Amino acid sequence: MDKKVANLLNDQINKELYSAYLYLDFSNYYAEEGLEGFSNWYYIQAREEREHAEKILKYLKDSGEKVTLEAIAKPDKKLTSLKTPIEEASKHEKYVTSLIYNIYEAASVAKDYRTMHFLDWFINEQGEEESTAESLVKKFELFGNDAKSLYELDKELLSRK
Ligand code: FEO
Repeated sequence: MDKKVANLLNDQINKELYSAYLYLDFSNYYAEEGLEGFSNWYYIQAREEREHAEKILKYLKDSGEKVTLEAIAKPDKKLTSLKTPIEEASKHEKYVTSLIYNIYEAASVAKDYRTMHFLDWFINEQGEEESTAESLVKKFELFGNDAKSLYELDKELLSRK
């Protein structure tokens, strides 16, 4: 595999694990605030991020590439209001999409069609994650300031398995 593509994929494992860490932090924040549904939502999101990391790790290993695991950065978002994690998650997913596009572009330059095909799944996934994150921002803007509606929204988010 092209060195640059392999390095970017290796870095992406770390980025996905950081995403998991970030969402666990959000999950803890909401648990402390008494919103179990929001807490559940980000707990499950963290699990999905770990699965993304594992998918890339497996792909690199299956391609005969060496994987180097680096330290995961500390979640550094300041959680100052109930809305902050939701907004930060939306921004973060856009950032992750840009990272995936960057790898895709490097794979394209290297004519690495197999990696491009592998990344198709991530491109679709990012589309879904961006739209889910954005719709949660909208829901919060509509219902977040009313205690009863917030309670209902929290109940809805508790149902994510
Ligand atoms: Fe693995 Fe939410 O991007």
